[in-house]
Amino acid sequence: MRMIIVEWRGEFCFSGGMLKKVDSAGLRQVMGNFATGIAVATARNEKIGSFGLTVNSLTSLSLDPPLVLFCVEKSAFLHPHFKRAKYFAFNILSAGQEKVSRHFADRHHNPAPKNMWGTPQKECPILRGTLGWVLCKPHALHEGGDHTIFVGEVIGLHKNAGAKEPLIYFHGRYRDLAEAKVTSGSRK
Ligand SMILES: Cc1cc2nc3c(=O)[nH]c(=O)nc-3n(C[C@H](O)[C@H](O)[C@H](O)COP(=O)(O)O)c2cc1C
Repeated sequence: MRMIIVEWRGEFCFSGGMLKKVDSAGLRQVMGNFATGIAVATARNEKIGSFGLTVNSLTSLSLDPPLVLFCVEKSAFLHPHFKRAKYFAFNILSAGQEKVSRHFADRHHNPAPKNMWGTPQKECPILRGTLGWVLCKPHALHEGGDHTIFVGEVIGLHKNAGAKEPLIYFHGRYRDLAEAKVTSGSRK
């Protein structure tokens, strides 16, 4: 088996014997090996109503107190809206919800069709057909380069019944864990 060694030297790295500058394309390529689930972070305000953003930066941070985090690009249209949100929720997408992921990743930010929404929690919009949701109130904000790290304190949880599989994101593509196959070709 051939080993590829990636070694950091300042802002350069060695990859398979080749010296490469550490740039965003390289970082995306290597980090794209880290398969994730997909969630839609949702919130609401008076100005734009219910909104959501497809994220794969959702991370479980602490059990006691119960904290989770996600990261939002500072230039993102919804960044200021999440900063002002009184509550936000993470809706964990199930296999078959690629359309939902694409909707909330779209740069046009069109309102979601009514049938995507379920029963709100503390006025925070919740999506239908997911594996479950986590409701948070803002706990802390941290600097993270071109992103802001939003830490939320978990104040509500729900696991939807049924043995559904998650929607997976790997190498810039949506995957179905059950069939371990590529289900589409591009990011959105
Ligand atoms: C699978 C996937 C995961 C994403 N994860 C994040 C994320 O964690 N944080 C983020 O700020 N944007 C993430 N995005 C991008 C946003 O969903 C969205 O496409 C972007 O904010 C749109 O840009 P705009 O707000 O400038 O219009 C992700 C997109 C996809 C398809």
